[in-house]
Amino acid sequence: MSYSPYLLKGQKALITGASSGLGEASARCLAKAGAAVVINYHSEQKAAEKIVHDITADGGEAIAIAANVAREEDVKALFAETLQTFGTIDILVNNAGLQKDASFVDMTLKDWNLVIGVNLTGQFLCAREAAKEFLRRGVKPDVSCAAGKIICMSSVHEVIPWAGHVNYAASKGGIDMMMKSMAQELAPQKIRINSIAPGAIETQINTSAWSTPEAKANLLQLIPSGRVGIPGDIGRAVVWLASDDSDYVNGTTLFVDGGMTLYPGFAKGG
Ligand code: BGC
Repeated sequence: MSYSPYLLKGQKALITGASSGLGEASARCLAKAGAAVVINYHSEQKAAEKIVHDITADGGEAIAIAANVAREEDVKALFAETLQTFGTIDILVNNAGLQKDASFVDMTLKDWNLVIGVNLTGQFLCAREAAKEFLRRGVKPDVSCAAGKIICMSSVHEVIPWAGHVNYAASKGGIDMMMKSMAQELAPQKIRINSIAPGAIETQINTSAWSTPEAKANLLQLIPSGRVGIPGDIGRAVVWLASDDSDYVNGTTLFVDGGMTLYPGFAKGG
């Protein structure tokens, strides 16, 4: 897939959790579309630097910055360095997220807090810093008709309950209302905030769901389109939501899930 390198020319994007998976794909796709990108990572410094290297070798602009998005001081430092390097920010991809699965009665408070802290509080902290900068700078019509765009990485589990993953599903359900409430509050200032809800996409987070033939066959029963997603499916949706092509889209969730939310069990039942 190739984009016009002018689609996001002159725009600066920060992608959290970008050293692998959906964050990496988002960063690579945004860079291909012409944005300068900040690859935020938590601990995978080598992987982040490799992505920076690939993007710059391809003529793009990228830097890597470490930060734990669940920590306010880390997020403030992440944005300070971003603004110092790139001058401003136009696009935030609120992607960093993790799973810590356990049956409900065995779920520890530590694992509840960890998942809510990164997946939900992390998105709040980053969105708040991005929104402050969007409001300070306002619209630059030669760059974008929006003052800024935020894309929240949600999941089909913002609507599909998920036994054994109560902390994760709760974090994604929270993202839905946080995203919509932020969008309602900031739309008059020309800030656009939307979510992407991926279904099963082949990444490290769900290797056990697709890496053996048996697991994959089970998984495919949940996907009417008949294939597991690839990270690029999400990266391309991110580019569209970040670009002025989606200027009239605000406060919505784009499901990129091969039909997983279509209640596939009802195709032959009910
Ligand atoms: C989860 C994956 C899962 C997918 C579909 C995602 O949000 O992170 O582990 O495969 O939802 O259930």
